Amino acid sequence: MLSIFPNAAAIADYVSAILVERVAREPEAVLGLATGGTMEPVYARFVAQAQQRRLDVSRLTSFNLDEYVGLSSDHPKSYAAYMQQHLFRHLSFSSSRLHLPNGLAPDLETHSREYSLRLQECGNIDLQLLGVGGNGHIGFNEPGTPFDSRCHVVELSERTRVDNSRFFEGNAMVPTLAITMGMYEILQAREILLVATGEAKAPIVAEWYRSEVTEDIPFTALKLHSRARVVVDEAAASLLPESVRRTLRMPPTERKAGVDSQPLQPVTE
Ligand code: F6R
Repeated sequence: MLSIFPNAAAIADYVSAILVERVAREPEAVLGLATGGTMEPVYARFVAQAQQRRLDVSRLTSFNLDEYVGLSSDHPKSYAAYMQQHLFRHLSFSSSRLHLPNGLAPDLETHSREYSLRLQECGNIDLQLLGVGGNGHIGFNEPGTPFDSRCHVVELSERTRVDNSRFFEGNAMVPTLAITMGMYEILQAREILLVATGEAKAPIVAEWYRSEVTEDIPFTALKLHSRARVVVDEAAASLLPESVRRTLRMPPTERKAGVDSQPLQPVTE
């Protein structure tokens, strides 16, 4: 379930190869998409590979995990704008199949319910991409979120707002609320791939590894999922025990194989 790669570029190659293979094999797949700094190299690599292979993405459906409340889709810091910039505008997606929560919905509760229903109507997610927050959030499900929560409005924790202030002009500009897919919808995905890169993620990766499954660390919910994989780079793995790091380094020969070529097993070490 846990694999260690040399760096973020190697992870981008790996995840992108998985995406390309999946889309080629299942052009009507439903993808769950994440934003954030971690995903930027992944999408850049995927765009390059998809263009090179003339991959048909027009029948894909996607659901993004989250969006800030109060930002319109054309606000440069919105996740809608992020997705356009890093992925959507580079390939021939069908815009009607691309779903993001609407941070300006007049009734956010109703909108959250509708987002969840739309996802169900589309048959739930085949492959969910995730990053992880420094406090263990996935999507914007902050510590303490029940694992059966559906898509909902969340008050962002101080830690998350500080972490994400690097994308804004200062802390005060980071929205206080967001809409996020719930833990339930994430865990319903048939397959999950979580990426963590950089030394800032080392403490949460080590905590996740040590910890029992607990709602206090949403990331640990992935231990309940039989087809979840966590891929980290050496920097994010740096606080794991040396014996674990030695065992879980992904050999170069297997890095190209893709997540589907082997059964995914939960961590048992
Ligand atoms: C983003 C999302 C978040 C991020 C997480 C890590 O859509 O759902 O959970 O994945 O906050 O963000 P970065 O990659 O910027 O460290």
